[in-house]
Parts: sequence; structure tokens; C-alpha cells
Amino acid sequence: MAEERVITERELTDDEIMDNTIRPETIEEYVGQDEVVDNLKVFIKAAKMRKEALDHVLLYGPPGLGKTTLAYIIAHELGSNIKTTSGPSIEKSGDLAAVLSTLEPGDVLFIDEIHRLPRFIEEILYPAMEDFTLDIIVGSEGNTRNIKIDLPPFTLVGATTRAGDLTAPLRDRFGIINKLNYYSDKELEKIVKRTAKVLNMKIASDAALELAKRSRGTPRIANRLFKRVSDFSLVEGKEKIDLEITNKALERLKVDKYGLDATDHQLLLAIINKFGGGPVGIDAISNSIGEEVTTIEDVYEPYLLQKGLLKRTNRGRVVTEKAYEVLNIDHQKNIFENEG
Ligand SMILES: Nc1ncnc2c1ncn2[C@@H]1O[C@H](COP(=O)(O)OP(=O)(O)O)[C@@H](O)[C@H]1O
Ligand SMILES: [Mg+2]
Repeated sequence: MAEERVITERELTDDEIMDNTIRPETIEEYVGQDEVVDNLKVFIKAAKMRKEALDHVLLYGPPGLGKTTLAYIIAHELGSNIKTTSGPSIEKSGDLAAVLSTLEPGDVLFIDEIHRLPRFIEEILYPAMEDFTLDIIVGSEGNTRNIKIDLPPFTLVGATTRAGDLTAPLRDRFGIINKLNYYSDKELEKIVKRTAKVLNMKIASDAALELAKRSRGTPRIANRLFKRVSDFSLVEGKEKIDLEITNKALERLKVDKYGLDATDHQLLLAIINKFGGGPVGIDAISNSIGEEVTTIEDVYEPYLLQKGLLKRTNRGRVVTEKAYEVLNIDHQKNIFENEG
């Protein structure tokens, strides 16, 4: 599979380098998301039998759950090239035209953070997705003309953390829409073991499971924690990463028994201590902990909701009894103290 980054304008972060080295390449190596994967296998097979491009695919879900990985795997399974770009890096119609004009029949065009495409770019994308034609205006003021270019059939794979931010017309043009979910402990254990193997390291099963449990259901976090834990293990001169060093490292990294990190704690504690446990609006939470509303909504809240630590009501967010337990706070005592 040939890969080409159409527009790169910045250095990769450590996390991204790590992501790229251990990213599974084939659909068989992709752990979990069974329903999504099973369906994709059928659609990919059918597209190949028909000798047609696969329908456009939208992947959405919190960061680090495997959207980019799956986009690459789709291209790999189709036996196609993948060209990648992202919403924020397409600013002018010419940027999009440049990307689209490099496509060959059956190629995958991956647009990351597709919710951040400017609206007028989206509008150029509609006919490209629907009829494989590119309608653009060229020239400058007073001397413009419309040109229509035929594009080869291609598959757009869009990824977003915020499906709700896509306009309806864009969303409607994706034939295949998949939500990625948080992973189970077992699945993350498998991912951690695979990562260890790829990086040529050894980890005990109980240590891998412990890491999995403390990774917020997220492969990227599991891999990142694995890396840190392996640092501790290496420095202590261990042949194999064991449970003891794993617990020690995680404690030092301030990841709690439930996989909640410092921001999760801050968020729950703010609701409890400043807003009497809720209900409280998202803006007030955002102000009080100094995190963007979108970050809270896309990154922190989904996990806390899924774990039953937080609830959304029409009057705002409320922490649950379980949150008090997890934070080791005596709820009854807390009520009296707040009232007093
Ligand atoms: N299903 C999976 N199986 C194995 N590893 C995965 C899986 N999903 C994600 N990963 C790992 O997690 C990292 C982050 O995944 P990525 O696709 O970049 O997430 P996203 O694009 O959703 O933010 C990747 O490097 C990959 O190694
Ligand atoms: Mg990604």
C-alpha cells in the first residue's frame, strides 16, 4: 500500500510517532469494535466484487479509539492507496482541488477532523462525493469562470470526534457511518500485549490487564502508559514488566485504580465541591477547571458518562453516588459540610 500525506505542515508529536510505529495494518490485527469491523469486511468485499469504490465512510468517537488506524486498514484491505489530509488544513478551494486531483480510481481520501472543514469547502465536497465531479470557480474578480472536472471514483473516509458538528448534508453523503466505542479491559489487554511484542518487550499477563484497566478504555492511552511503565521497568533492570512495577509506575503517573486521570478528578471534584454535586451547566464546569467546553464534551465526559460517574440531565451535569465512592468522599458528610 502506498501512502502519501498530501498536506503536512507540522512536526509529528511523540504520541503520533508512537501511534504510527505500533498501528496495526491489517483488519485481522485490529482488536475489538467487532460490529464495525464485521460490517466493514462485508462492504469491502462487496465493493471489490463489484469492482467499485467503497461507499464513503464516516468514523466518529473520542480521540485515541482507532479512527485513523481504521482508515488506513480500510485502504489496505481494499488494496488501494490512501491520501490523507485534515479539516483545518484545507483553507481554500484550491487546497481541496489539489488533493482531489491527485486521486486515482479506487483511492481512499482520508480527511481527519472533518468537522473542521470550512462550510464553503464542504459545499465543493458534495458533488465530489456524490457524482465524482469537481465544480470550482477559477480566476479572479471580474474574470471568473466555472470549471467542472471529472474525478475518478474514490472513497472518502472522514474521521471526527464530534459527529454532531457535521452539517446534515455532509453527514447524509456518507453511506457507511460507524461509531467507535470504548474498549473492554480484555481488548485493551490484548492491545498492550501486541504493543509489547511489536516493541520487542515482555510483559506479564496480570500487568497487561492492570494497564488495560487503567487506560480509560482507550488504546492510545494504553500504549502511552505501556511506554512509561516500560521505562520504569527498564531503569529498574527488569527483564519483564511485572505487576509490581506497573502499579508503582501508574501511581507515580497519578493514574488511579479506575483509570481516571488528574483532569477527570478535577472535573468531578469541581462539581462536588463547588456546585454541591450538580446539576451544573457545562460552561460553569469549563470555567471552574479551565478546560475548553469541547474538550470536556469530546474527551472527558463520554468516559465518565459511560462509567456511570456522571449523568446528564436537562438541568445540567450531576455526579453519581458511584463518583463519591470512587473519589473516596463521604457523600452524607459532604452534604452537611456544604450546607454549613
Ligand atoms: N483496534 C485497535 N487495535 C489495536 N491497536 C489500536 C486499535 N485502535 C487504536 N489502536 C492503537 O491506538 C493508537 C491510536 O489510534 P488512532 O487510530 O490514532 O486513534 P484516533 O484516530 O481515533 O484518535 C494507534 O497507534 C494504534 O496503535
Ligand atoms: Mg486520528
